[in-house]
Amino acid sequence: MPKLIVTTREGETSEIEVEDGLTVMEAIRDNGFDELLALCGGCCSCATCHVHVDPAFQDKLPEMSEDEDDLLESTEHRVETSRLSCQIPFTGELDGLKVTIAPED
Ligand code: FES
Repeated sequence: MPKLIVTTREGETSEIEVEDGLTVMEAIRDNGFDELLALCGGCCSCATCHVHVDPAFQDKLPEMSEDEDDLLESTEHRVETSRLSCQIPFTGELDGLKVTIAPED
């Protein structure tokens, strides 16, 4: 199974295996990282699934929608590589993707 590498706010890194058909948010949440709140459940309306993505993978990610862009704009910790993890379906192409959970707003 493809792997996702997650770094927590405390800087702890772990590798998780991701089943087919999950988003990055679901993979992180289902593996017990409860600091990723994902309050809206993935409908792109809360921004509590904010992650910073390894720049090496930026080109492989789906394009950002206007809604995602607006929501990220409302967060305090937006950086160049910010994404909402519920908006990234985890495909085999993303094997080895590294994400860091963004600080809480
Ligand atoms: S879970 Fe709410 S925007 Fe991603």
